[in-house]
Amino acid sequence: MKALNCIELAGQEKWSETLQYIEVDDPIPGNNEILIGLKAASVNFPDVLMVQGLYQFQPPMPFIPGAEAAGVVEKVGSGVTDFDEGDHVFVMTGNGCFAEKLVADQSRVQKIPKEMDLQVAAGLAMTYGTSLYALKQRADLQAGETLLVLGAAGGVGLAAVELGKSMGAKVIAAASTQEKVDICLEHGADEGFVYKSGNMNRDEQKEFSNKIKELTGGMGANVVYDPVGGSFSEPAIRATAWEGRYLVIGFAAGEIPKPPLNLALLKSCQIVGVFWGAWTAMFPKENQENFEELFELLEAGKINPRIKDKFKLEDSAKAIAHLAERKATGKVIVEIA
Ligand SMILES: NC(=O)c1ccc[n+]([C@@H]2O[C@H](COP(=O)([O-])OP(=O)(O)OC[C@H]3O[C@@H](n4cnc5c(N)ncnc54)[C@H](OP(=O)(O)O)[C@@H]3O)[C@@H](O)[C@H]2O)c1
Repeated sequence: MKALNCIELAGQEKWSETLQYIEVDDPIPGNNEILIGLKAASVNFPDVLMVQGLYQFQPPMPFIPGAEAAGVVEKVGSGVTDFDEGDHVFVMTGNGCFAEKLVADQSRVQKIPKEMDLQVAAGLAMTYGTSLYALKQRADLQAGETLLVLGAAGGVGLAAVELGKSMGAKVIAAASTQEKVDICLEHGADEGFVYKSGNMNRDEQKEFSNKIKELTGGMGANVVYDPVGGSFSEPAIRATAWEGRYLVIGFAAGEIPKPPLNLALLKSCQIVGVFWGAWTAMFPKENQENFEELFELLEAGKINPRIKDKFKLEDSAKAIAHLAERKATGKVIVEIA
């Protein structure tokens, strides 16, 4: 089969030179495994970090990148009882998805309705799964509350915008360009504003906090969804409402911030960690319930995943670069078959 292969970890500068689109052996399923003919995969920020050697989990070299995909079951191992040939599925394996075929443990595979678009399915799990877990289980977002989303046109960000709206919140989308803010407004955000695309200095951070306060009638946002980190986190916590919840989602800006904890004291607010991948492993039943909720929201048209950036499998290194260069809006899809 054809696949994208990462042969060396060369860091942030030269990572794209270490990706090769080559012929590799077809994988063979073991007892509890499923062979899937992949139809589409999607790009997530961890794919960028993994090919650069900067992710918290690193597969043995060489490896095929790509954390999630969707396709059709081709063969099941003798210990697999819940899946059959021909089932439509999505799969999250952390790596291995930028390929024509994939073998995955059955615990990593999720059956989906046959009518679900496989490109939508390939990009649903990580972004919408993370954002639903963050807003529902971690923030307990309530109808009528204000939700501020940073990096709001990105993968997890746009999912948070849509899910926040579906939960009845007033959603404020913040992003680095007006084009990105406009996309968020198209996807249901009530308000939006543009922030600086690089590191903010003290004055700019103050301006950023003030903007949020202005949009929330001086109260601050009840829930802040932050996948960006860096110089954005501290002013976002400063603009969190009394008893608000600030969600630590990720650090796309590249820097892990160290905000002063007196901010949490002064607002009686919570700084809440969100690690969706670990939660899915510890609480598979609750994760399954969340997926079913997402399927219902999708069918009801209450979420509408944005798929505009598409690449062929042979160009999957370009798909990773598209995300790394901050050009992505919504989901970046790799078309496989
Ligand atoms: N906690 C969890 O369980 C979990 C699960 C999935 C993902 N994540 C994390 O969430 C973050 C976003 O992931 P994603 O897949 O949604 O990525 P994405 O689609 O690339 O979105 C990230 C957004 O961050 C903003 N950004 C700010 N500085 C950036 C920079 N220097 N480079 C790139 N983007 C930058 C960009 O928006 P602007 O241009 O508008 O600023 C971009 O749209 C990542 O840190 C990822 O690891 C966490």
